[in-house]
Amino acid sequence: MSGTAELERELVRVGRRLAAAFPSSSHQPLRALDERAMQMASADRELRAALFRFVDVVPACRSLDDLARHLVSYLEQVPETPPPLAAAMRISATRAGRAALGAAAAGGVRHLAHRFIVGETPEAALGTLSRLWEDGIGTSVDLLGEATVTEAEADRYAARCAGALQRLAAATPGWPPRPVLEQDPHGPLPRTNVCVKVSALTPLLRPDAPRRGQLDAAARLRPLLRVARDAGAHLHIDMESLDTREAVLELVLGLLAEEEFGAGPSAGVVVQAYLRDSPAQLERILEWARAGRRSTPLTVRLVKGAYWDHELVQARQHGWEVPVFEHRRDCDRNFEALTRALLAAFPDVRVAVASHNLRSVAHAIAANRLSGAPDSALELQVLRGLGDDLGRALASEGHRVRSYCPVGDMVSGMAYLVRRLLENTSNDSFLFARAHGAPLDELLKAP
Ligand code: 2OP
Repeated sequence: MSGTAELERELVRVGRRLAAAFPSSSHQPLRALDERAMQMASADRELRAALFRFVDVVPACRSLDDLARHLVSYLEQVPETPPPLAAAMRISATRAGRAALGAAAAGGVRHLAHRFIVGETPEAALGTLSRLWEDGIGTSVDLLGEATVTEAEADRYAARCAGALQRLAAATPGWPPRPVLEQDPHGPLPRTNVCVKVSALTPLLRPDAPRRGQLDAAARLRPLLRVARDAGAHLHIDMESLDTREAVLELVLGLLAEEEFGAGPSAGVVVQAYLRDSPAQLERILEWARAGRRSTPLTVRLVKGAYWDHELVQARQHGWEVPVFEHRRDCDRNFEALTRALLAAFPDVRVAVASHNLRSVAHAIAANRLSGAPDSALELQVLRGLGDDLGRALASEGHRVRSYCPVGDMVSGMAYLVRRLLENTSNDSFLFARAHGAPLDELLKAP
């Protein structure tokens, strides 16, 4: 088909330009993570699992001794310990050795966390956010938080979100004009943009009794929507694991259709392309958007999905059919099909494509151009700490880029950090391939 050939030609052109705009020594994933540790971890599944279990318990450890004991107990489960780690295990035999090892491990994890997490509080993050803005990159502040277990935790998370919206909305008007980031064919774009996770807004979100969780979450999400509306901010609702997806989507679309939110705030949801049933989910969202209940179009952020390992393990444990694509190519193909479906839905939705895969990004840009829309109709998103070089390359080519910036403390950031590590050490990762010098033609080939 000539349409396809034309798309491929444009895509390769875009991809080459973007690659040329990358900083020449761009090896971000390896720069961002300790190269040796990551190489060891990538090469050895069990070591990788042990290290990530360790990262996960770090915030719960009470002392350096405790930290060292945990590290060693996880490493003992790895059949072949690489020499540097075997040495670490030997020094853990003494109390002083454990203190040294614990300090080194804690420092390493903190160092890693700071690559991805821009600050503990919105105030602390403001410097980074405004510098990105000055460099022509918008941001979305992800308030870190994961499944809460008590109502008090959910209340605290909701208060943090409201505080962040207000704090940022008070600061962003002082930023200099950046026309590319402030306007798209639909109209003005809020400078303040915050993401929340519904599982942190209620302890009651359970797949077998979704209604209770939805009601409880609604009681916290509704006030946040009001705060966002009154502050002129964008509120984005992240998607998490599949077991809560239906409940979250139904809740969000239901709230946004309420009369009081007809004129705002600007809001968005997420579609995860690694889910086999994501095309049907997108169709439902588009149907909702076509009904045109609101004056600001819904933003749909397309991602690959961050809970791949979790979904796979969960399905295997329960003997369920695996809900995610197990091969990257299938997921990438679906990502491209969903990109085109989203672009074809103009003007019913705003489209944000979040990927660090050069091919997927170039495909979105090319498909948008071939549809006749201006580049400003498409937002591209990257993750802070992982996609910074790609973000800069995109911005230098005049594209509208938003960096997803986690804000929160180490404790709430650990699950996020583990997801980034899993992603970044996967042999299927595009960043991994790029850092290992895969040729450009290879990276731009159709999946
Ligand atoms: C995550 O929390 C980026 O929403 C994604 O992993």
